Amino acid sequence: KKIAIIMGGYSSEYKISLKSGNVVYQYLDADKYDRYRVHIFKDRWVYVDAQNQETPIDRNDFSVIIDDEKITFDCVFNAIHGTPGEDGHMQAYFELLHIPHTSCGMYQAALTFNKRDCLSVLKPYGIKTAESYYLNLGDAIDENAIISKVGLPCFVKANKAGSSFGVTKVHKKEHLQDAIDIAFKEDDEIIIEAFLDGTEVSIGVISYKGETKVLPITEIVSENDFFDYEAKYLGKSQEITPARISEEMTKKASAVAKKAYDVLKMSGFSRSEFIFQGGEPYMLEMNTIPGFTAESILPQQAQAAGISLPELFGNAIEEALT
Ligand code: DAL
Ligand code: MG
Repeated sequence: KKIAIIMGGYSSEYKISLKSGNVVYQYLDADKYDRYRVHIFKDRWVYVDAQNQETPIDRNDFSVIIDDEKITFDCVFNAIHGTPGEDGHMQAYFELLHIPHTSCGMYQAALTFNKRDCLSVLKPYGIKTAESYYLNLGDAIDENAIISKVGLPCFVKANKAGSSFGVTKVHKKEHLQDAIDIAFKEDDEIIIEAFLDGTEVSIGVISYKGETKVLPITEIVSENDFFDYEAKYLGKSQEITPARISEEMTKKASAVAKKAYDVLKMSGFSRSEFIFQGGEPYMLEMNTIPGFTAESILPQQAQAAGISLPELFGNAIEEALT
């Protein structure tokens, strides 16, 4: 089977995506799958061969001419974090072309990539979320109203972004405006959330052999003030799988993560973030193209569950093809 592994993307996360995509390329079973690396950048969509030579992709049917032969793909492995891979655009494109892909559906991607909308949909199902305040670009900013709603410290986040781009923890009112400006650089919508004081965990839920499978939970211990970019990718954090939480908390959080996955009719990969407060898991967000790099959490969780990387990636393709 011919598999295109798409990586790159148009957002600040493109470098992480290239790492993720190359890990997928490396571990996907070469005896079973013909692997093609495809870079999706704003200025070009290209097939990249082993010598890093680029050949343009025909966007009409997502094909490429290699050695005078037209290649089309049986399945796409989506390793693009952020837009256009995680927000529904690529999903819609492949769905229109009837090309199976490993990510969730177009609607699920668009919804989950929007932290505000995703949490708003899940809340009536009893999933707890932090107190929050929303702003669109151009809205009047009432600092007193914000702080009286969410308190201090609080988190200012770009609504549609990943890898902590555009996220600031604000301790003092006089730093709020700067944090808002930083978040608006990533997105024209921002969310400001109350700080939750408790253990942070990350929960992978995937479609595995036809069923929803919750992976072992990872506890996140950041050396920085929060789990920021440096903590995520430059070693400034400890990620402990399984999390050092009680069996009861493990069960509770796993059930909530599974419920979110099932309620949203997800497929493919997901990794949701929670913080425990008062013994209850509060959901921060769901990522549908979680990192697949060596430092990334979901691959570690899969391995803790006895699922090797070739099996994890191969399963995603088999799930997409059925
Ligand atoms: N957005 C990053 C890649 C993650 O969720 O792992
Ligand atoms: Mg994220």
